[in-house]
Amino acid sequence: MALYRTNGELLIERRSIIDEVFNSFGKSDHGSRVLRRGRRFGRITKHKLARWIFFLTALISILLTVYGLKMFLQAKMESKFSIIPLNLQEERNPLDKIVLSDDGKTSKENIVASAVVNMPKPKRQKHFPCEVGFLESVEGLVEPKSYMNSTWFSLEYVDHEERTSKNDLSEPRFGGHQTLEERENSFYAKNQTLRCGFVKGPPGHPSTGFDINVKDKAYMYKCKVAVSSCIFGSSDFLRRPTSRLISQYSKDNVCFVMFLDDQTLSKLSSEGNSPDERGYIGLWKIVVVKNLPYEDMRRTGKVPKFLSHRLFPNSRYSIWLDSKTRLNSDPMLIIEYFLWRRKAEYAISNHYDRHNVWEEVLQNKRLNKYNHTAIDEQFNFYLSDGLPKDDPSKSNDPLPSYVPEGSFIIRAHTPMSNLFSCLWFNEVDRFTSRDQLSFAYTYLKLRRMNPERPFQLYMFKDCERRALVKLFRHRDAHYTKGTATAKESLLVHFVAKDFTPLWGS
Ligand SMILES: *[C@@H]1O[C@H](CO)[C@@H](O)[C@H](O)[C@H]1NC(C)=O
Ligand SMILES: *[C@@H]1O[C@H](CO)[C@@H](O)[C@H](O)[C@H]1NC(C)=O
Ligand SMILES: *[C@@H]1O[C@H](CO)[C@@H](O)[C@H](O)[C@H]1NC(C)=O
Repeated sequence: MALYRTNGELLIERRSIIDEVFNSFGKSDHGSRVLRRGRRFGRITKHKLARWIFFLTALISILLTVYGLKMFLQAKMESKFSIIPLNLQEERNPLDKIVLSDDGKTSKENIVASAVVNMPKPKRQKHFPCEVGFLESVEGLVEPKSYMNSTWFSLEYVDHEERTSKNDLSEPRFGGHQTLEERENSFYAKNQTLRCGFVKGPPGHPSTGFDINVKDKAYMYKCKVAVSSCIFGSSDFLRRPTSRLISQYSKDNVCFVMFLDDQTLSKLSSEGNSPDERGYIGLWKIVVVKNLPYEDMRRTGKVPKFLSHRLFPNSRYSIWLDSKTRLNSDPMLIIEYFLWRRKAEYAISNHYDRHNVWEEVLQNKRLNKYNHTAIDEQFNFYLSDGLPKDDPSKSNDPLPSYVPEGSFIIRAHTPMSNLFSCLWFNEVDRFTSRDQLSFAYTYLKLRRMNPERPFQLYMFKDCERRALVKLFRHRDAHYTKGTATAKESLLVHFVAKDFTPLWGS
């Protein structure tokens, strides 16, 4: 059943990709050359053709007899290593996307074959997955006692803003109107009430957005652990977690929530990917978001990406996945490996290439990811507030890299972790939506302002991230260019009010 569904999804992706290929062929003069050659063959007589076919068949039989056994053995060996090409898609050219999306999901042999056929590769740096030492199974997994020290302080969130003489709330905003002074104070790890999205206007004003219906809210309220992702603006395909790699325990105890807008839902439905009567597509529980808070779909994607503790208020853990990735690992094993084993409350991978924010700024401009003036304003603000411009790897820095690859985030919903999530979201709300620009600044400032309250962040290797998920390109090339519309992210949550019983035996 699960297999069948996966194939259905595969076909849809494949179909539209094939359409793309045909369209582009139709326009090139390749196409007409093929046609001309076809006419020439038309003149060859049937008799000649039969002789040719006979000759070729004989030749192939001989070759197969001689080399068949050898080839067979070789193919078997190659398929053992095919996990590697599976995970390489991220920064390849579109041709690779065709090959890998076409074959990648079901047949290892096909991957090997296409890798061979597709010999001339652009000289790009390759990024491989590396070993992640997961436990063998979720059996007997027990959350470490006193793992989360949640008695430090408590956070409350601004629910709505009133109009006062000091502010001008002409337009209520989802992120609220935070003064610079309030922003500064919000970095202290202490009991406080801060803005963290979902800020409503004064009574009588229309919603500021990210509306979710009551039933879905009730569902999310009960989640103890959540895995989530989103697609807004039809920017991506729906990629279902690989069911056979996820334990029954996780299927029973973890919420897998995919946030979609109406546009994406109807696009997916028109491709035959509709939610069932319970609202699921595969493992994903589909939650439709109405009234998106930002015009920029990428910024809207940051809401589920960063604010999982608000969307799943009773969850203890969450995992976020970008929609360009397919979850290929068990969420509970991920939480054990990245959080529990390291006593970390927040885990994110470093970037595969860039390690300082200045490089990231240059790259964002080079690829025209965002308004250059706005990028400069943000970066200069950070420099003036203590962000070092130099490469962190030379110093004794807690962060191995100043640039994260945020497509996969694992977090415990501790006060410190939640505070960091709110602060990072507020930067994305105030400045550009390029969250890689604000990550290091937010982290370093939080640490600097709370020397006696360490934030246990674990920055893992990009190659480990590649082992957890399968990477794809975004459906919407427009999105990756970062022009206007887009989607983003995915999130996993794990939560429990009582620690032990939930995953005790
Ligand atoms: C919990 O927080 C308190 C107060 O900051 C600290 O003294 C204690 O060591 C922490 N416990 C753990 C297990 O981190
Ligand atoms: C912070 O809030 C918690 C829970 O609301 C409370 O128990 C604690 O006393 C407060 N701490 C301070 C310093 O006010
Ligand atoms: C770019 O950002 C600057 C500063 O935020 C703003 O004044 C300007 O209008 C923006 N330009 C465009 C084209 O959006």
